[in-house]
Amino acid sequence: MIEIIAISGSLRAASTNSALLAALAANAPDDCSVQVYDGLGRLPIFNPDDEGERTPPEAARLIEMITRADGVIVSCPEYAHGVPGGMKNALDWLVSRDAAVGKPAMLVHASPRSLYARAALAEIMRTMSFAMYEETLEIALLGKKLGEVEAILAENANRQAMRDAVQGFARFIRANIASSS
Ligand SMILES: Cc1cc2nc3c(=O)[nH]c(=O)nc-3n(C[C@H](O)[C@H](O)[C@H](O)COP(=O)(O)O)c2cc1C
Repeated sequence: MIEIIAISGSLRAASTNSALLAALAANAPDDCSVQVYDGLGRLPIFNPDDEGERTPPEAARLIEMITRADGVIVSCPEYAHGVPGGMKNALDWLVSRDAAVGKPAMLVHASPRSLYARAALAEIMRTMSFAMYEETLEIALLGKKLGEVEAILAENANRQAMRDAVQGFARFIRANIASSS
C-alpha cells in the first residue's frame, strides 16, 4: 500500500484546492491511500528557535506524517503571485529536518491561472530536496461554486484523470523506493 499525504494551501471552507484533494483521495486506486492533512491552520508561525525539543505539537505531527508517508501531494492557490503564507509556513517547519529529503512530491492544480505560485512552490520544494514528480494534474475549478465543483469532480473523465494521476505518482514513488534501497 502506498501512503500519500495531501496538503491544501487554502483554509477556505469552500476551497477548490481542498475539494480537489478530497476527490483525489476518493478516487485513488486500491493500492494507494491518500490522507488529507487538516492541521495547516493550527500550525504556529515557524520560528527556528522553536525547533528540536521546543517543536510545537502540530508541527511535530506534520513532520511525523510527512516522515512516515511514501509521498506528498500539494494543491495550492496563488495569492498576490506567490505561495500563501499558511502553505509556506508548513513547508518551513520541514526545512531543517530529514522529512522532506528525497520524499516524492507532486503538485496538482485547481486553477489554470496560478503560474507564479506553481513555479515558486516547485522551486521551494526542490530546494528542500523533495523528489519532484514532473507530471501534474489540473482540473479547472477556479471561481466555481461548491455544487459546480462537486459536479465537475464527479465527471467520469475527471475521475479517471485523478485515478491515473495518483497511479502515475505511485509508480514514481515505487521507482524511487527501488532506486534508494
Ligand atoms: C488574497 C488573494 C490573492 C489572490 N491573488 C491571486 C493571484 O495573484 N493570482 C491568481 O491567479 N489568483 C489569485 N487569487 C485567486 C485565488 O488563487 C483563487 O481564487 C483560488 O482558486 C482560491 O483557491 P481555493 O478555492 O482553494 O481557496 C487570489 C485570491 C486571494 C483571496
